[in-house]
Amino acid sequence: MQRIILAVVVGMISFSAVTAQTNNKLVAASIARGKTVYLQRCMVCHQADGGGVPKLNAPLDASTAVNGSDISKLVKYIVKGLNDRIEIDGEFYANAMPAADDLKDQQIADVLTFIRSNWSNKAGPVTLTQVKQIRSKLK
Ligand code: HEC
Repeated sequence: MQRIILAVVVGMISFSAVTAQTNNKLVAASIARGKTVYLQRCMVCHQADGGGVPKLNAPLDASTAVNGSDISKLVKYIVKGLNDRIEIDGEFYANAMPAADDLKDQQIADVLTFIRSNWSNKAGPVTLTQVKQIRSKLK
């Protein structure tokens, strides 16, 4: 009986280690794809270092929203664009961010996962399921 319990425990530990490894690989792949989206669609304004352009384009590096838990807001900005001239971390930005609604759900998850984990940002990944759910409610 003890052996069975031991085997089950060892099994569970190695299973979760394998799952964690698979997860890390999936996240790394998402980040790599997201970087491509970023270079093609976002870098022109938000810059290679994510620092944006003072008074023109908001920085994504060290941004409260980018690192925050409100994923809906981030998905909405990409799908609908952002031209509200809202105060972002104490600053205002004069440029308008165009909607990128031609991006696929996976590409949005990837680019958000990339910006949330790049530069000094250390926020968790955004999944395809999250983007699908949020996007289906955006009208
Ligand atoms: C034409 C320039 C431009 C492009 C291209 C662009 N953005 Fe933006 N982005 C802006 C501007 C300007 C703001 C601030 C808008 C405002 O204040 O109303 C902004 C704001 C944001 C914010 C909110 C930041 C915060 O701290 O609240 C995020 C997130 C964001 N952009 C991500 C992206 C991503 C991801 C892409 C590529 C898919 C992208 N942007 C493409 C100009 C751009």
